[in-house]
Amino acid sequence: MASVFVTRALPFEALDRLRAAHDVDEWRQDMPPSPGDLLARTREVEGLLTLITDRVDAELLDGAPALKAIANMGVGTDNIDVEAAKERGIPVGNTPGVLTDATADLAFALLLALARRIVPGAEKVRAGRWETWEPAADLGADLAGATLGIVGWGRIGQATARRAEGFGMDVVYSSRSAGVPLPELLERADFVSLHTPLTRQTRHLIDAGALKRMKQTALLVNTARGGVVDQDALRSALHAGEIAGAALDVTDPEPLPADHPLLDAPNLLVVPHVGSATVRTRAKMAAMAVDNLLAALDGGPMPHQVA
Ligand code: DGY
Repeated sequence: MASVFVTRALPFEALDRLRAAHDVDEWRQDMPPSPGDLLARTREVEGLLTLITDRVDAELLDGAPALKAIANMGVGTDNIDVEAAKERGIPVGNTPGVLTDATADLAFALLLALARRIVPGAEKVRAGRWETWEPAADLGADLAGATLGIVGWGRIGQATARRAEGFGMDVVYSSRSAGVPLPELLERADFVSLHTPLTRQTRHLIDAGALKRMKQTALLVNTARGGVVDQDALRSALHAGEIAGAALDVTDPEPLPADHPLLDAPNLLVVPHVGSATVRTRAKMAAMAVDNLLAALDGGPMPHQVA
């Protein structure tokens, strides 16, 4: 039996398999452990099941000499210093595939919400400002015939493209190794949807220059990572009308404080990182993380190992 720390209460059946096999310490508070708490609870464990809210850096790894495996409940692993773990021979697992459809659905939900002005419309009704059917008010953008630019051509980007085809959109994409150059995509697209992991290369990929290239009527959707967009530049672009709107599932930082300057930008919709938040998807993510941890603690390779 190995000792394991699970960094949040995970109300999923898969956890029973972990508890049956190992000595499991679970963080039972609603808020994530602070870096100090994480370090203290990880100091003696062999297995760590983390969430994307937990920062696992070299300092934490050095403070946990017995650590043999880290399973992240998420496909993104930018919360973990994967290189530092690799140098110490600690495998890191993630949960690819199972959240593809849920995240692509959310990207599309945001795209539709922006295009058809769903949130301002709902606010108008609740505020008692819906006075009549107006021929030229509340007008949005058509999807059919519009061009969707997908930045990042992994599983989620491709799943978003499949949805777009069903709506009669033309799709262009840009990735490190294929598709059209990013500047061309930004100039052509009526909608831009971001699906790239956060790396040194993609931090602030969408900066002031990128936003200037976009059409003034274009809408931006980000379900990838907040750091991919330079939020100060986005705020300025929205205020200046350089683009028509943006919908973000992810921000930098997360959570975005209610008084954050970005939130005063016009035509901005922000939701609280819910791309994978469906009942089935979260249960599958927990099961995959548990499978990764069980395999590594058993001395084998993780089914889904990033390093
Ligand atoms: C992930 O798994 O990386 C997602 O962002 C969580 O929803």
